[in-house]
Amino acid sequence: MYCKLLLSLVALLFLALQTTALPGFRSSLGSLVPWETSLEKRQLDNSNKFETENNGSEFLWLIQDTYEGQSFFDRWSFFSQGDPTHGQVSFVDQQTAFDTGLAYVTADNIVVMKGDNTTWLAAGQVRSSVRISSVTQYTTGLFILDLNRAPWGCGVWPAFWTCGPNWPYGGEIDVLEGVHDNEHNQVTWHTGPGCNLTPNDNFTGTIVGTLDCDGTVSGNPGCGITEWSRASYGPYFDSQQGGVYAMKWDDEGIAVYNFYRAAIPQDITDGQSPNPSTWGEPAAQLSPAGCNISKFFSNHSIIFDITFCGDWAGNSYATSGCPGTCAERIMDPSNFVNASWSINSLKVYQKTVLTGSISDAKRTIALDTRVVPLITCALMLTMLALVGL
Ligand SMILES: *[C@@H]1O[C@H](CO)[C@@H](O)[C@H](O)[C@H]1NC(C)=O
Ligand SMILES: *[C@@H]1O[C@H](CO)[C@@H](O)[C@H](O)[C@H]1NC(C)=O
Ligand SMILES: *[C@@H]1O[C@H](CO)[C@@H](O)[C@H](O)[C@H]1NC(C)=O
Ligand SMILES: *[C@@H]1O[C@H](CO)[C@@H](O)[C@H](O)[C@H]1NC(C)=O
Ligand SMILES: *[C@@H]1O[C@H](CO)[C@@H](O)[C@H](O)[C@H]1NC(C)=O
Ligand SMILES: *[C@@H]1O[C@H](CO)[C@@H](O)[C@H](O)[C@H]1NC(C)=O
Repeated sequence: MYCKLLLSLVALLFLALQTTALPGFRSSLGSLVPWETSLEKRQLDNSNKFETENNGSEFLWLIQDTYEGQSFFDRWSFFSQGDPTHGQVSFVDQQTAFDTGLAYVTADNIVVMKGDNTTWLAAGQVRSSVRISSVTQYTTGLFILDLNRAPWGCGVWPAFWTCGPNWPYGGEIDVLEGVHDNEHNQVTWHTGPGCNLTPNDNFTGTIVGTLDCDGTVSGNPGCGITEWSRASYGPYFDSQQGGVYAMKWDDEGIAVYNFYRAAIPQDITDGQSPNPSTWGEPAAQLSPAGCNISKFFSNHSIIFDITFCGDWAGNSYATSGCPGTCAERIMDPSNFVNASWSINSLKVYQKTVLTGSISDAKRTIALDTRVVPLITCALMLTMLALVGL
């Protein structure tokens, strides 16, 4: 008798749920409901925050680290050794960078890093510049860099990239990189042997050369993709007041997106939980179809640097259309007025899978219409059983 009463109460409860969606329903009851997969979610706001894993789990990208404003430089190390890419550069330590104005934060919280644009050099001398690495290391994440300006100019070679230990085995992801007055950003990966780009993958850029990302092969420049947009690097990017570079690294691959300022998606501007699945095709992508992402990429520091001449900007100088030689170019500081980063923020988000332990007041769950007949039937049977008493 008690049992039957209880049963009908349960049935009534589910009938009520069918018409009245309860906030946080899955959070509190999800694991108790056998037909959880037939529940559909509704959201009170229209921001499409939730994304779905290949395995059906839902998740959000939630903020892990924010680098911005006066505290920007608190969690970086300044690299002050020789440039591994053989640039005609001297990377300065933190104190020197601050003292000589190569790194600073303006009163209105804009972070600036630059190459020396005030010192005349004699032939063969190196130009001072900055290279910094994040103290925190990341394995997967959504990295969103909001810039007013990225460095460019003849003989200038800047990069915003991430890199793991024991190169190339920990992997390297070059998110923003170029030389001279290029207009198209190049995204490049370097890895140990066995990781390849997938041709005909869904990205808007163009594969540069080899598909093979293997950095142990002598002379391999990595597997690269140039972006189609001429505002993705250099003068046009800067003249659009910059924009956003986003790099999404998870088990579904490594994708790079780029938006000039007027085209930044609202969910990035809002900054709460950006949703890359609403951004369209990425500019460049390394897909798990050709590369085991978790095997080839781990423990990355984020790096900003500006170097001059060297392996890329030096070797390509003669064919770049820039005047004279790179060695001559580097002597005059006025050639480096545009060799500076101007950064609003760098934010790192981590994927957070929604489970019973996560509650979100905005979240509302309604029962799928497919289970309504079942519930109605159960209710009627229960009523009949009660009447039968
Ligand atoms: C789906 O994958 C995510 C991330 O790998 C994992 O956290 C989650 O537990 C998986 N869900 C299921 C139902 O297997
Ligand atoms: C590209 O996207 C289409 C449509 O979503 C899909 O059918 C196709 O498999 C994708 N290609 C690759 C290489 O992932
Ligand atoms: C990827 O590599 C990891 C670590 O080496 C391994 O455990 C996993 O099985 C690999 N995944 C695939 C799909 O090969
Ligand atoms: C990454 O860092 C973790 C934690 O420090 C460490 O246990 C792991 O061995 C590292 N992985 C690699 C490939 O270096
Ligand atoms: C710096 O940028 C301005 C604006 O695009 C451009 O006119 C100028 O030529 C650039 N100077 C150098 C040295 O690249
Ligand atoms: C050097 O670069 C900084 C940062 O871009 C700029 O504010 C300054 O005007 C430049 N100085 C000269 C002498 O061009």
